[in-house]
Amino acid sequence: MQNMIRKNVRKRFTVKEKRDVGHLISGFLDMFLKVQLSWNVIIPPEALDAKGLMLQRAIIIRLLDDISLRKATRDLGYILAVTTLDSIGEGKVRQQTGEVVFPVVFTCLTFKIFKGEILEGVVHRVLKHGVFLRCGPIENLYLSNQKMPGYDYVPGESPYFKNKTLKIGKDAVVRASVIGTKWIEADREYQALVGLEGDFLGPLSD
Ligand SMILES: *[C@@H]1O[C@H](CO)[C@@H](O)[C@H](O)[C@H]1NC(C)=O
Repeated sequence: MQNMIRKNVRKRFTVKEKRDVGHLISGFLDMFLKVQLSWNVIIPPEALDAKGLMLQRAIIIRLLDDISLRKATRDLGYILAVTTLDSIGEGKVRQQTGEVVFPVVFTCLTFKIFKGEILEGVVHRVLKHGVFLRCGPIENLYLSNQKMPGYDYVPGESPYFKNKTLKIGKDAVVRASVIGTKWIEADREYQALVGLEGDFLGPLSD
């Protein structure tokens, strides 16, 4: 009997570890998505002495912790902020552990890029074959030299790319179009390929 309980407890922890993002209820297609999510917030027995506002506070803190650990999801992109807490459902006690699970519904703002979109990024690394841009929470947008026609690499202590009139070096702000995106599960982040083929694309400052 004892064993069985232990086993159950362990199993519960596994489920807890794996409990997922909640599911998408609604969203709008754009770079910024406003989405409503449901999430199971697990409050340990020690924290349950708190009542009313204090308990609500504990639930919110736990929710924000859970979200910041997750950073981004394939479907939603980067969770930037929780904008409203829409509801906290009735807590359900887990018999074996004494934890209480509160179903919470909240609205958050997320950031996700899509193929074909135009974005502005800041160059943070210059390599011989291209540059890496950062755009909001996305660190690795790669602009290959092959996707910036007319630009040549200029080596040196701070290398850059230039065409006749414009320069793309470190800290340059570049407007580019998204050629493709890739979700990297291990790092829980998006990477993307961007290019300058199109009107009004290129460095905005040098
Ligand atoms: C340099 O690049 C910009 C934008 O990428 C483009 O608009 C401009 O025509 C190019 N200039 C030359 C001389 O090729």
